[in-house]
Amino acid sequence: MKVDVLLGLQWGDEGKGKVVDVLTPKYDVVARFQGGPNAGHTLEFEGQKYVLRSIPSGIFQGDKVNIIGNGVVLDPALFKAEAEALEASGHPLKERLHISKKAHLILPTHRILDAAYEAAKGDAKVGTTGKGIGPTYTDKVSRNGVRVGDILHNFEQKYGAAKARHEQILKSLNYEYDLTELEKAWMEGIEYLKQFHFVDSEHEVNNYLKDGKSVLCEGAQGTMLDIDFGSYPFVTSSNTVCAGACTGLGVAPNRIGEVFGIFKAYCTRVGAGPFPTELFDETGDKMCTLGHEFGSVTGRKRRCGWIDLVALKYSVMINGVTKLIMMKSDVLDTFDTIKACVAYKVDGEEIDYFPYDITEGVEPVYAELPGWKTDMTKMQSEDEFPEEFNAYLTFMEEQLGVEIKIVSVGPDRAQTIERYTEE
Ligand code: GDP
Ligand code: IMO
Ligand code: MG
Repeated sequence: MKVDVLLGLQWGDEGKGKVVDVLTPKYDVVARFQGGPNAGHTLEFEGQKYVLRSIPSGIFQGDKVNIIGNGVVLDPALFKAEAEALEASGHPLKERLHISKKAHLILPTHRILDAAYEAAKGDAKVGTTGKGIGPTYTDKVSRNGVRVGDILHNFEQKYGAAKARHEQILKSLNYEYDLTELEKAWMEGIEYLKQFHFVDSEHEVNNYLKDGKSVLCEGAQGTMLDIDFGSYPFVTSSNTVCAGACTGLGVAPNRIGEVFGIFKAYCTRVGAGPFPTELFDETGDKMCTLGHEFGSVTGRKRRCGWIDLVALKYSVMINGVTKLIMMKSDVLDTFDTIKACVAYKVDGEEIDYFPYDITEGVEPVYAELPGWKTDMTKMQSEDEFPEEFNAYLTFMEEQLGVEIKIVSVGPDRAQTIERYTEE
């Protein structure tokens, strides 16, 4: 068997959580492979809304196994809050959620370092989620990290050494902080975590594949936030792209099957950094209002703009996307005209590829398509799609070279339309 990967093609918040939940019945296992509680994956069904941060979005569909892979960074305090809330709402986790021993722990001092580094950057700050993501991955790469498996061996000593090192750095930055409450909640989180299955997830996943079981990998963030291919340095600190599923779960590249690429029918970004198609007018405000574009975790207002096909084509290429999923088209239901950026103008010259730097001087070149001016939120099948909407889908498919297999017309699980397939 192969693993399928579902990931965001833009700057995150494309709707990954919703679609993973919808697709989970087709799989035996759902696994997260990177990121941590910087993610906020929203699911809605039966009148309930859930936001997941570290727990995979396959947790609501029957008794599927859900795995937190080695590429994830885990904050025990935030994990405890998330898991307890889920259990309290009638979704038992302890038997179904497996955590890789090789996943790195976000320490309380990592969160403080995140804040200290951001403060030191001043106007150039990234606008991180403040969850300690960057400092934790930094320690992993510099071979100073503390892993989930360490909880079982010499933990006090490993934690103490890492904390002491962080305190030295914070001192050198003259950064004032109070660790007491954070550390208390974190230690309670460590105790809580011990009730879960700590696993060698690379063996577990490969054994599932050997036994003919199907695995869906759930990406976090989006390709434009990837540490290598995103809008560096305004990115997160992990490989959010498809290759991240190989390193973040121990799955060989030739085991990758379908790659589902998710994008919004427009585009959003939260935090700082370049965004060529960003709108600062009432059209952008309308997208924000109708799309409820406020961060699932931080509540921060998301910046909004037209879809950027130059960046999307790049994402499709880097990830080897085999199937596209278009989200939130309902947000554009009332628009007279829909714009799509098909090229960039850089120094007066038009280019259709994603350049090294999009920080300055990139002007979007737009194609304009007629809006469909129809409420699509109650539609159940593509037979109901208005003509202009079909034309919009065809345009996207021609531009991106990949078929759009799922269209999402609202936040609820039920507002999801699978398109006919000729396979
Ligand atoms: P994720 O991080 O990729 O899982 O996405 P988020 O959950 O952060 O953000 C997506 C937001 O859009 C959530 O509030 C979802 O409930 C909502 N959503 C998902 N799909 C749709 C859709 O098709 N239409 C509308 N209007 N909202 C959607
Ligand atoms: P999901 O999985 C949107 C952004 C932050 C910031 C940058 C770095 O819900 O799509 P970090 O805390 O990771 O060091 O912040 O990345 N960011 C996200 N933006 N969705 C996310 O996750 C994000 N996770 C991080 O806003 O700009
Ligand atoms: Mg999100």
